[in-house]
Amino acid sequence: MSSPKLFQPITFRSVTARNRITVGPMCQYSAKDGLADDWHVQHLGARAMGGAGIVFTEACHVSAIGRITPGCLGLYTPEHQAMIQRLAAIITYGGAVPGLQIAHAGRKASSNVPWLGGKGLALADGGWVPVGPTAEPFGDSHTAPHALSVAEIAGITEQFAASTRMAREAGIKIIEIHGAHGYLIHSFLSPISNKRNDAYGGDLDGRARLLMEVLDAVRSEWPDDLPLFVRLSSVDWMEGGLTIDDTVEIARRLKATGKVDLIDCSSGGVALSGPKIPSIHPGYQVPFADAVRQRAGIATGAVGMITAPEHADEIVANNRADLVFVARALLADPAWPLRAARQLGAQLDLVPQYRRATLT
Ligand SMILES: Cc1cc2nc3c(=O)[nH]c(=O)nc-3n(C[C@H](O)[C@H](O)[C@H](O)COP(=O)(O)O)c2cc1C
Repeated sequence: MSSPKLFQPITFRSVTARNRITVGPMCQYSAKDGLADDWHVQHLGARAMGGAGIVFTEACHVSAIGRITPGCLGLYTPEHQAMIQRLAAIITYGGAVPGLQIAHAGRKASSNVPWLGGKGLALADGGWVPVGPTAEPFGDSHTAPHALSVAEIAGITEQFAASTRMAREAGIKIIEIHGAHGYLIHSFLSPISNKRNDAYGGDLDGRARLLMEVLDAVRSEWPDDLPLFVRLSSVDWMEGGLTIDDTVEIARRLKATGKVDLIDCSSGGVALSGPKIPSIHPGYQVPFADAVRQRAGIATGAVGMITAPEHADEIVANNRADLVFVARALLADPAWPLRAARQLGAQLDLVPQYRRATLT
C-alpha cells in the first residue's frame, strides 16, 4: 500500500522535506531587541522533533522599526544572525527543513504583545513611529505611520536583501516573503491601505511594485538551488479590497519571474474594522490555495484551521495544495505529525532518538 500523500516527501529545487506538513510561522513575542533565545530554540526544536517536514520561524523582521511588537524577531545584526543560526541548526537536528519568514510590519509595527492587549504601543510606552504607504494609521490606537518616500522604499528593499544574506549564511533552507496580514507588503498590495498616487500606488502594477522589488532583492541574495515562498492574503474580505482574481493575477506574475516556488495562501488582516469573514470553519482558506494552484499553475500551501489528519491528507491528495501549513494545532501538540501518521497508517521518518515513538 502506498503511503498517504501527506507523508510522501516533496522536493523544491534542491531541498526535500520528509512530508508535506509545514509548521506555519508563529510569533512568540518573546524576543529581546529582536534576538531569539532559549524559548525559540526549544519551541522550534520540539516541532522539528515532532515530525513536521518543514518548520518555519515566526516572522523575522528586516529592521527594528519593522517589528510588529518589541517581542518580535529581527535579523539585522551579527547577533541576530548567530541566533538564527542556532534555530536553523536545531530544526535541522530535529529532521526538518528550516524555513524563515522574512517580514516588515509596516504600519502595524509598534504594537503591544497580544497578552498585553495587542493594540498600538504609544511612543511614551516604548513604541516607535511605524512606516506605511501613506500616513493613515492601521487603527485608532496605532501611531500614524510615516509615509515612505521612494528613496526610503529602496532602503527597505536593501534591508530585505541584507537579511536574506544573513539567513542564507545561517543555514536557513527556505525563505518565505511575508506578503500577507496587512503588514508592509500587503499594505502596498491592497487598495484598502494603498492610496498613493506615485509609481507604488494606483493600479495593480503600482501596488505590486514593492512586492516585485522585494522579490528581486531577496532572490539576488538567495541561491538558485534554494526555494523561495511568498505568503499572500488571498482576499481582504472587504468591499473594494483584494479579491481572489487579483491574487491569481499576482501569483501569475510571481510565477513568471521564475523566482518563486510556492504561494502560501492566507487571507485578511488589512484593516481593523471593515473586513467580514462570512464563516470561519475547517479549511475555510483552502479554496484560495486551490484556485491559485489551478489558475496560476504554481505550487501552493493551504493554511487555516486544518487540524484533522484526514483533512490535511485530502487537501494534498486531491491536489488542492502541495503543502499543508498547520499553526495552532502544532502549537497545542508538537507531535501532531506523529499522531497524524498513526491515524492514517503512515510511516513517519523521525530522528533516530525518537524512532521508537512510532511503534504502537
Ligand atoms: C501565535 C500565532 C502567531 C502567528 N504568527 C504569524 C507570523 O509570524 N506570520 C504569519 O504569516 N502568520 C502568523 N500567524 C498565522 C498562522 O501562521 C496561521 O496562518 C493561522 O494561525 C491559521 O492557521 P491555524 O488555523 O492552523 O492556526 C500566527 C498565528 C498564531 C496562532
